[in-house]
Order: sequence, then structure tokens, then C-alpha cells
Amino acid sequence: MTGNKTFTMIKPDAVEANNIGPILAMINKAGFKILAMKYMRLTKEQAGMFYEVHKERPFYGELTEYMSSGPIVAAVLTKDNAVADYRKLIGATDPTKADEGTIRKLFAKSIAANAVHGSDSDENAEIESNFFFSSLERF
Ligand code: RTP
Ligand code: MG
Repeated sequence: MTGNKTFTMIKPDAVEANNIGPILAMINKAGFKILAMKYMRLTKEQAGMFYEVHKERPFYGELTEYMSSGPIVAAVLTKDNAVADYRKLIGATDPTKADEGTIRKLFAKSIAANAVHGSDSDENAEIESNFFFSSLERF
């Protein structure tokens, strides 16, 4: 049985390009409801904690630098089959490989500045949601 929650961030490139509104509209249109949301800026250390799983990857320094370069929107979303359906909506990590009509195809600038984050499993959706939101901030 698959869970009904996922976690997302609208990344600094998409915020800077004034695409918060269009991306949230796509999220709602695809049937996701917002359980929690905040607008904030991560420190490099916080970005490093969030992406800890990628610590050994060559792009880790660039990734944490980038994710702390400007404000982001963090949100918990709900829908049946949320993790898989949201990954489908956002498209491939590399926007040149993302399907037409996906958020990354429409809004991502590059493989690093790729507009949005989406959880890759129910377990990580829970961990990531807990990283950003207390129980008092979820509705
Ligand atoms: P995300 O976690 O942000 O939703 O992205 P993802 O699952 O599609 O991709 P993942 O493999 O988890 O990579 C996390 C983020 O690291 C950056 N990245 N840069 N320069 C590179 O080759 C490279 N590869 C990955 C991207 O911002 C990617 O979203
Ligand atoms: Mg990932």
C-alpha cells in the first residue's frame, strides 16, 4: 500500500523567476492538496542536512550552495499515491530529459537548478516533512 503524502520544495531558481504561482497552480490542478507550507531560506548547513544522502556525490557542494542561494517554498502535499504521482508531475531530474508538460520541462533551468524537489519514497516523504514542519504547522 502506498502513502498519500509527499514533500516538495520550490527551489531558488523557480522562486527567483516568479514561478511560485504557476507551479502551485499545476500542483493543485494535478489533484494535490496542501497540508503545510512555508517560505524560507535555508543555510548551507541546513541544505547539507536535508541532502545528507548525497554527501559523497560530486555535486554535493554545488547542490548545498545552490539550495541556500535564495528563498524556497517548502510544502507537504497529499493525494492518493502521492510520491509516484508527484515524481511524474515534476519530470526527470535533468530537464532536457523531462517529459513535455512536466514542471521541470516547463520551469527548470538546468540539472542543478531544476525548479522543484519531490520525495523519492514514502519513508523519505515523512523524514523530509518532519525536517521542515512541526505537528502544529500541518492541517
Ligand atoms: P530532488 O531530490 O531534488 O527531487 O531531485 P531528484 O530526486 O530528481 O534527483 P537526485 O538524484 O535526488 O538529486 C538531487 C538534486 O541534486 C542536484 N543534482 N545535480 N550536477 C548534477 O549532476 C546533479 N545531479 C543532481 C539536482 O538539483 C537534483 O535535483
Ligand atoms: Mg531526490
